[in-house]
Amino acid sequence: MTDEIKPCQSCGKKEQWRSDFPVEWEGDNYVSRREMVKFLTLGSMVMVAANWIMAFSSRFLRRGSKKVQLLGSSSDLPANSYMLFRYPTAQDPCIAVRTADGKLVAYSQVCTHLSCAVVYNKSENDLFCPCHNGRFSLDQGAPISGPPTRALPRVTLEERNGRIYATEREA
Ligand code: FES
Repeated sequence: MTDEIKPCQSCGKKEQWRSDFPVEWEGDNYVSRREMVKFLTLGSMVMVAANWIMAFSSRFLRRGSKKVQLLGSSSDLPANSYMLFRYPTAQDPCIAVRTADGKLVAYSQVCTHLSCAVVYNKSENDLFCPCHNGRFSLDQGAPISGPPTRALPRVTLEERNGRIYATEREA
């Protein structure tokens, strides 16, 4: 950029404003390698920070729920059968299973892989997800085959006076 005042191309007069407010048109669209690297680095840092915040909030801020909810009478759930219910909210489908040996367990019905509904598989004595053949153990809700890697959240059940209550759910 020179300090020389250039004349107007149409009238020939020298225009002071051109030197007061110089505009370098070629430089406006030029992005240097350094600026590009800076932009990519900052963008990546923002993405990493956002992922950390999401991971932190889902891991530590989500808490299980404690509330007592009547599911039904014990006779509604004989050995080798299951019962579907929603706990703690109407948006949380769960499954309770009474195994052949009389053990009562309950888990979230939402598969930890891609959220399909798991079902009780009597023949294998486990919980089965038909979407990608995921299987979960009835003892712990732990994945035993297929793509799921995380256990199903457990729902604590209590049986009192011939009635079944849900009392707590893991996050
Ligand atoms: S959604 Fe359950 S195994 Fe994929």
